[in-house]
Amino acid sequence: MSSRVSSRLALSAFAAVAIVACASGGSSSSSTPAASAPAAPVAAPATASSSALPSGVTAAMVATGDSIFHTASCQRCHGMNAKGTPRGPDLTDSQWSQISGTYPEIVQIVTVGVPKDKIKMAGAPFGMNPRGGTNLSDEQIAQIAAYVYTLSHK
Ligand code: HEC
Repeated sequence: MSSRVSSRLALSAFAAVAIVACASGGSSSSSTPAASAPAAPVAAPATASSSALPSGVTAAMVATGDSIFHTASCQRCHGMNAKGTPRGPDLTDSQWSQISGTYPEIVQIVTVGVPKDKIKMAGAPFGMNPRGGTNLSDEQIAQIAAYVYTLSHK
């Protein structure tokens, strides 16, 4: 008897999770803990649209990366809207100067930075230091990169 009750409880808990998962597709202001939830099996669509997130990237990572981008150093050179300043390029367009714009490349370039003598844009006064000159963790960089990826892949 009690086992039937608990399995029904488990079922409704599952339904609630499924509803939350669907609802979080858009602008996610939920405070879902990113790392602790087990990854849900994702059915890869046969024809991925350009707005699909890269593998390993979740909407929660994008939301967290959004807030880190705007509190870390990034916005000082790339702008609060990420559209660029004289110190750093626009990250919202489809033009890339250092990379081709894939998610792993964004993670990599934010981790290692861009030395001044490798900068392509004219007039940038400083190189981009590794991790944007901050002490961001690898996890935080994965989150920032997820956010940066979505800016140009809409
Ligand atoms: C001191 C200024 C500065 C800071 C701070 C900075 N960047 Fe940059 N960033 C640059 C410059 C300069 C480039 C190279 C642009 C070029 O080669 O034309 C660059 C390149 C990039 C690129 C590759 C762009 C491309 O077109 O290939 C990405 C992605 C990027 N930065 C993300 C970030 C993120 C995320 C942060 C925060 C963790 C950050 N940057 C912090 C100045 C900065």
